[in-house]
Amino acid sequence: ERLPELLRRMPKAELHIHIEGSLEPELMFEMAQRNRVALPYASVDDLRRAYDFSNLQSFLDIYYAGAGVLITERDFFDMAWAYLQKARADHVLHTEIFFDPQTHTARGVSMETVVNGLHRACEQARAQLGVNASLILCFLRHLSEEDAFQTLEQAMPFRDRFIGVGLDSSEVGHPPEKFAKVFARCRELGLHLVAHAGEEGPPAYVWTALDVLKVERIDHGVQSSKDPALMKRLAQDRIPLTVCPLSNLKLCVFPRLQDHNLGQLLDAGLVATVNSDDPAYFGGYMNDNFLRTFEATGLTAAHAHRLAVNSFEASFIGAAEKRKYR
Ligand code: ADE
Ligand code: ZN
Repeated sequence: ERLPELLRRMPKAELHIHIEGSLEPELMFEMAQRNRVALPYASVDDLRRAYDFSNLQSFLDIYYAGAGVLITERDFFDMAWAYLQKARADHVLHTEIFFDPQTHTARGVSMETVVNGLHRACEQARAQLGVNASLILCFLRHLSEEDAFQTLEQAMPFRDRFIGVGLDSSEVGHPPEKFAKVFARCRELGLHLVAHAGEEGPPAYVWTALDVLKVERIDHGVQSSKDPALMKRLAQDRIPLTVCPLSNLKLCVFPRLQDHNLGQLLDAGLVATVNSDDPAYFGGYMNDNFLRTFEATGLTAAHAHRLAVNSFEASFIGAAEKRKYR
């Protein structure tokens, strides 16, 4: 079988997707219209032209502005449903979806509206698409730990509707240890723990995500290759990295896709996975990430198989379920 066909058709899990980053410009304009929200762009094309980023912050500014069109439960449902259909088309059997409630509650949208809309789409995906979807609540690291605690409090009535918590937004200057107390509390609550670290930030942030926050996975983590001791730790403890190649390219973490270190991470024995991050902004869903990265870097069918196996190993599905995907 040709490698592109193998990449497209192989069953896979997605573990790093921000649902707000799956909102395509067309749907964003539709929601802006029906909710009577003004967008600072004249057209879909005008908006797409703004997707020319120099670093993480230049993207986040536009991403948070775009999320301003999401008002009703239907909006959250429609956004997630559109993503889940793309996931099905890319042979994603299992997906763990990040959402950023603070982006919405700060605008007066209730936690209930956000969680119910997303949850309903996940339920429908299981029933109608055969895609298994769970939610992970992310705290915004540019905000305070106190704000994160309030967000956790607001989410507690919906505790059974998300499987874990994460940490995202502006990385440099907001190290994981800023959220030590709230992650300790989430750990007591039995929530799964993940955090973005080593996307733009230093290996030191990956160390503290592991040792202070006690996360089970690192989101991105590509800067880890700068620290041999950290590479050893990640390999020995089988700490997964949810790598997002097209995101790294668009946010200038690597100058060219052929410079990406995914192959280096895999060859060092790390549990690296491929994910889309914010597909509507970075030019591709799962299979686009696989196909373009393999094309650019010359990874092999053995790497493809390893990535598929890693994606299920790194997921939070139960041990019994997991055996079915081996
Ligand atoms: N929020 C959405 N995408 C993100 C990314 N790649 N890094 C940090 N925060 C994000
Ligand atoms: Zn991310």
